Amino acid sequence: MNALVSGLNAPVADPGTGRVERGSAVPRIDGRDKVAGRARYAAEHPVDGMLFGVVVNSTIARGRIAGFDLAAALEVPGVVEVITHEHRPKMRSLGAFYKDMTAPWGSPFRPLYDDEIQYNGQPVALVVAETFEAARYAASLVGVRYEEAAHDTNLMTNLDRGHPPKRLKAGYSPPPDEKGDAAAAFEAAPVRIDAEYYSGVEHHNPMELFASTVIHGDDGHLTIYDKTQGSQNSRWYVSHVFGLAKDKVTVRNPYVGGAFGSGLRPQYQLPLAVMASLMLKRSVRVVMTRQQMFTFGHRPETWQRVRLAAERDGTLVSIRHEAVAETSRFEDYCEVVVNWSGQLYACDNVKLDYRVVPLDQYSPLDMRAPGAAHGMHALEVAMDELSYELGIDPLELRLKNYAERDPMKDLPFSSKELRACYAQGAERFGWSKRPPAPRSMRHGSELVGWGMATGTWDAMQMFARASAVLHADGRLVVSSAATDIGTGTYTTMAMIAATALGLPLEKVTFQLGDSTLPVAPIEGGSSHVATVGSAVEGACEKLGRRLFKLARGRDGSPLAGADFEDVEFVDGSIRRRGDAASAIALTALLEEAGEACIEEKYLLLPKILKQKKFVRATHSAVFCEVRVDEAFGTVRVTRVVSAVAAGRIINAQTARSQVSGAVVWGIGQALHEETHADHRFGRFMNHNIAEYHVSVNADIHDIDVIFVDEDDRIVSRLGAKGVGEIGIVGVAAAVCNAIYHATGRRVRSTPMTPEKVM
Ligand code: MOS
Repeated sequence: MNALVSGLNAPVADPGTGRVERGSAVPRIDGRDKVAGRARYAAEHPVDGMLFGVVVNSTIARGRIAGFDLAAALEVPGVVEVITHEHRPKMRSLGAFYKDMTAPWGSPFRPLYDDEIQYNGQPVALVVAETFEAARYAASLVGVRYEEAAHDTNLMTNLDRGHPPKRLKAGYSPPPDEKGDAAAAFEAAPVRIDAEYYSGVEHHNPMELFASTVIHGDDGHLTIYDKTQGSQNSRWYVSHVFGLAKDKVTVRNPYVGGAFGSGLRPQYQLPLAVMASLMLKRSVRVVMTRQQMFTFGHRPETWQRVRLAAERDGTLVSIRHEAVAETSRFEDYCEVVVNWSGQLYACDNVKLDYRVVPLDQYSPLDMRAPGAAHGMHALEVAMDELSYELGIDPLELRLKNYAERDPMKDLPFSSKELRACYAQGAERFGWSKRPPAPRSMRHGSELVGWGMATGTWDAMQMFARASAVLHADGRLVVSSAATDIGTGTYTTMAMIAATALGLPLEKVTFQLGDSTLPVAPIEGGSSHVATVGSAVEGACEKLGRRLFKLARGRDGSPLAGADFEDVEFVDGSIRRRGDAASAIALTALLEEAGEACIEEKYLLLPKILKQKKFVRATHSAVFCEVRVDEAFGTVRVTRVVSAVAAGRIINAQTARSQVSGAVVWGIGQALHEETHADHRFGRFMNHNIAEYHVSVNADIHDIDVIFVDEDDRIVSRLGAKGVGEIGIVGVAAAVCNAIYHATGRRVRSTPMTPEKVM
């Protein structure tokens, strides 16, 4: 068995036949290996004679490096080298090269490139030693002399410096042109809301630290275990940066301990580990510390202003939404923050604006539902504010302005079961029992409030290849260079393949996480099922057609004269639909053909011309209950119902986990998470999990996830859209709206910490 899949346990689906249906709840195939510690992450692959690299980070935010004092570090026994920009191996400039199908592109930061310091925490040296301990100690002895320059990391004092992003990353859409006359309609309207919102910096904090283990082969081939959301993207990056031929580098990421967008781009430990390996011709591992995990991308600090106006009956007549976010000095990071406000509600007058402000800070980075998580927050809190101004139930107001078509593009939605989300979510939550006035519910010493919000996210599809190999013993091995960042890719892909060929799940292995496998995009944008899943199904269908021809061509075949549409694959055999007597075992077909295995490959290309005629999005309705202790300002989110429309659900269990996990993060966004910069130093101060509060078990109470029926064959042949990111959108707004309902106090900045709520 291939090393990549050894150690994967046979999954248990339906004990008995192991048959899976699409939509079954199947636990993760890789779950046992993960909890038993058998799944190796990027820093856990043992390599003989490996060196360890530890990164030294800058302590100033802007300036240049005047020189290094390396003597003390080099004297530490075991230290092999201290690499700095002064003698690193040659690197190519990345700007023009760094462009991938889905990775955010621009001019990514180049570690150890030159003497310029562009942000506080920038890597300035890599200490390489025979042991991790020696490297870490020596790193503490590295002296760096700086010429410091004035820096500015404060967004709020620089809002007027914002400009529309100049270099746009793939997939980014700038705000559309104004529709109607939003200002005039606002002035003329009887009911108006004008509010400013602030969202602080957040860091991803995946459990697995960023790490790269570079195994230097005798022939110079590099095999790299990297923490990344795309093995081929990291492979591509290393090849281009260091001028290495494609077949000289293999990147693997069979297991990824969470990423949430932080692994869409290669992070700096990868080029540093490769640099050291090339220089010293040795295997090298570089692992970031938890503190260093705060020295690259984050969700950008963002200021927003939303102005809404409505007729007295609740009809929206004007929507204006502007956002100003931070970026670095070296690139214009951009994300879609305001466009959602033109997509979600029907309105004749809409003006949207998005700007970025370059600061002496690392570029922000995609983080779960980038742009939407805070952009939709502002819109959905503003809608709540408007509902009170109008005296209309918040859910009623949304239904009143429900968009049947995309209002800005005047295009139909490929599918939009948001009404069902509202109805089923409200029913499950008991929304109809909500008293309209704030401060009308109390439980003991706590005020109780109910709030709701809408969520939306893109339903994307990219291109991918997959291969499916049926072996003579009945095993099916399907592969694609996909990634499983904890989302359940191994399991859902195996289910798609098993369903397509009627095989028990334990007969199916899905291989991913290796750059030499058939091409797949980065696991991002909640698009992996629609993309890789469609390629898997396509490959299996091709295989099925070939098996069908073999079966039909047999002497006296019970399938003689049948079309492919007339047959089905059930329990490892092919048969006429519903006719068990006509079944022919797939293994018999291979045996008769004298084949040890048969393989089919499939290239999934999105039907772009057809897709472009529709707006493709997932939707959700989030309802929540909070309990607020007014004396302390503490908030508990005691109940959340999230009703999601995300197309057909392939695996009810992993999909549910995606959404409930995202709700947890939404609660973190609402109440806990914020990275504070001390602008005097231009540095994030709470760069550890002790002071950066991630929601823990005690913060989380009831979470109920509903998937409404939806089937979208425009987005994917599977009918699936994707469920990773939609789960977070709207959660923080629902919490904010519930806090208002509980207390009568509107908190317009996140996180809504006790001093803001009190
Ligand atoms: Mo997601 S922010 O596309 O990993």
